[in-house]
Amino acid sequence: MNVEMKGICKAFGHVNVLTDIALSIADGEVHALMGENGAGKSTLIKILAGVYIRDSGTVTIDGVPVDACSIAACQQLGIAYVHQELNVINDMSIADNLFLGRELRNRFGFIDRPRMNQTCAELLNELHLEHLSPDTLMRQLSVGYQQMIEIAKALLINARLIILDEPTAALTDKEIRTLFTIVRKLKAQGVSFLYVSHRMNEIFELSDRITVLRDGRYIGTCQTTDVNEDDLVRMMTGRSIDNLYTASEAIPGDIALELRNLGSTGKYEDVSFTLRAGEVLGFAGLMGAGRSEVMHGIFGSYPAETGEIHVHGKPVTIKTPRDASKHGIAFVAENRKEEGLILDFNLTENTTLPSLNSFSKNGLVNDAALVTTTDKHIARLHIKTSSRDQKLKNLSGGNQQKVVLAKWLETRPDILILDEPTRGVDIGAKKEIYDIINTLKQQGVAIIVVSSELSEVMGISDRLAIMHQRRLVKIADTDTLTQDQVLKYAFTGAQ
Ligand SMILES: Nc1ncnc2c1ncn2[C@@H]1O[C@H](COP(=O)(O)OP(=O)(O)OP(=O)(O)O)[C@@H](O)[C@H]1O
Ligand SMILES: [Mg+2]
Repeated sequence: MNVEMKGICKAFGHVNVLTDIALSIADGEVHALMGENGAGKSTLIKILAGVYIRDSGTVTIDGVPVDACSIAACQQLGIAYVHQELNVINDMSIADNLFLGRELRNRFGFIDRPRMNQTCAELLNELHLEHLSPDTLMRQLSVGYQQMIEIAKALLINARLIILDEPTAALTDKEIRTLFTIVRKLKAQGVSFLYVSHRMNEIFELSDRITVLRDGRYIGTCQTTDVNEDDLVRMMTGRSIDNLYTASEAIPGDIALELRNLGSTGKYEDVSFTLRAGEVLGFAGLMGAGRSEVMHGIFGSYPAETGEIHVHGKPVTIKTPRDASKHGIAFVAENRKEEGLILDFNLTENTTLPSLNSFSKNGLVNDAALVTTTDKHIARLHIKTSSRDQKLKNLSGGNQQKVVLAKWLETRPDILILDEPTRGVDIGAKKEIYDIINTLKQQGVAIIVVSSELSEVMGISDRLAIMHQRRLVKIADTDTLTQDQVLKYAFTGAQ
């Protein structure tokens, strides 16, 4: 599909989100759309997909001006849109979800289940998902698989343009490989892709051209082979970012947290380690190795079954997140949707909710303090919003992630656990988060960082713990390990 967007403008209320944006996508091209959190990528995509109506500008598809302004009308044109925040109906089967709103019917007008299941099985096959049954409930699938089903939907409508908004943020490495194989295969058949990702390596691997937005404005379009990472960072941020990782020397204090043989059936076994104040312990491993599960065990969101947790040298019982909070533990979980952000509440409310007690005196909340605190986080994390009164649902995905972080930082924990803290955030914000981790470490906070990005977890941690198949197989000073060694431990459990 050949798409030309020109002079696109969009405002919400009196906030201009897009000004004079141009975008062109060629037949069989993978076109990457890049920009910082809040730059306007998802908004532009939603205009193309018929979710939002543009204020001005033109869209032509295969040379014909279009004014499709509903999702259905855009699908009719062959545009499929896979959301940044997945919208699946958990209690439906894969087949029902796939055919939702376009069920196949037999000549009597009844839903033709056999034919739907047949078509569904064929699609699953095409996507290398033959091990899934059309009857499987969506809730039984990992986010990665749910994403694949969304792509199957695109195939079902014979889409000629597939829009993927941060499709890999929740995928395992293996699922990413499968996705890329499918993208290449469809591309060879002439399907075009509009691809949004904050991961540079994916952009360079997959895309033919790149368009960059900054603050709702068009910065430029280039051939992927003509630019390098630094060029893109400069286009996106208007500056260059060097020394991404600036971890200071650790001055570890007393042992803040100790795990002794922590275990939970089927999730992790026999996990023991110590963590000192003023130290960053990184957790590396493949997705599914049990890292997040251990963190949930420490935080009590899914309490451990066996073993002991000691905080500041004393054994503690942690059965709920409340117990963990009482012991000064905070946990920024990997899945934003489970993070208890209240999308209809504003930034101030979301940021200060878990720490509200510290803003109250004799039952009265100090509103002025709430405001200053929220503004402090907005400034520090560069949260892009029109004001602290903005509802959270109106923030871009990456900026919502920053609010999660702000909210937990505000509880001033002794022990801070961060699970994939930079997923979906842009490179400038990444740097900011690394700097914050470093500052907290100097203030004596004991920190655990789980990350699937090897350079990240090695760049910011003093010690590294590596998990393989639900066991902790290695723990050592980070600077005694090479990336290759870490990968070997993660893949095989041994060196
Ligand atoms: N319905 C809305 N009302 C008000 N402001 C909005 C609304 N939707 C989006 N915005 C604002 O528009 C800007 C662009 O948001 P958008 O979601 O397009 O960013 P993005 O480039 O996709 O960012 P990310 O990388 O974080 O996903 C943001 O500042 C956001 O707060
Ligand atoms: Mg977005």
